[in-house]
Amino acid sequence: MDAWAALRLQVEWGADEALQEAPVNRLDREDAARALMPEEGGSPRPTARPAAPSVLAAAASAPAAVRRAQEIAAAAATLDELRDALGGFDGCPLAATATNLVFADGNPAAGLMLIGEGPGADEDRLGKPFVGLSGQLLDRMLASVGLDRTRLLITNLVPWRPPGNRNPTDSEIMTCLPFLHRHIALAAPRHLVLLGAMATRTLTGRSEGIRSVRGRWTEVSVPGLAAPIPALPMLHPAYLLRSPGAKRDAWADMIALRLRLDADV
Ligand code: URA
Repeated sequence: MDAWAALRLQVEWGADEALQEAPVNRLDREDAARALMPEEGGSPRPTARPAAPSVLAAAASAPAAVRRAQEIAAAAATLDELRDALGGFDGCPLAATATNLVFADGNPAAGLMLIGEGPGADEDRLGKPFVGLSGQLLDRMLASVGLDRTRLLITNLVPWRPPGNRNPTDSEIMTCLPFLHRHIALAAPRHLVLLGAMATRTLTGRSEGIRSVRGRWTEVSVPGLAAPIPALPMLHPAYLLRSPGAKRDAWADMIALRLRLDADV
């Protein structure tokens, strides 16, 4: 872990005071894990159980655009083919208003894949996910636990910018989901990070609020992969920009991610 990056992030987030009786050595796995446990007498945060894959069930009874997306995505044998297939897909109305397809950034072989919601204006302009303000915050958070884009792959639920930065609709998400599933299947990451409520709900089927599922490992099942992938829901960095008080939780989630990556090496 880069101690300077971690310290810089804490100072930037306003952590200028030590609140615990004793310092926690964040580089010591057991010490850091203990610090994340509840007070004595409490029970550890339970692992979230994967919910019924309602999203998959919905996709099975899907309209024509979704079925076409499923066929086209399934035919892609590589990530390059998948990107080309998406570039030629006209079944999602978002493609008509976007400037660029925003497919992915980072290293497809890294074993860690992050999934956000959808591109904003900066991403649309540059054709790359998470390059605007929330992406820059995300980069700083990742750097604080020794991660950068060479060590992860990052993409979104929808690869085109929803006009005016509105949320993607359920129908847009469902139409793009076969491409995202294929993206995950082809990259075959060992761990997923789900950024925000929409990515979490779509990929896990869980309907609880992001604040109650964040920081608890769950699983995501993806067509074409033999086993479900461990997935960590986190608060979306755009939410953190609006709600600085939530950064404490985001920091705990980053530590949980780092601990799991180290433990699963
Ligand atoms: N927010 C997202 O969810 N994705 C991006 O690519 C940028 C901002």
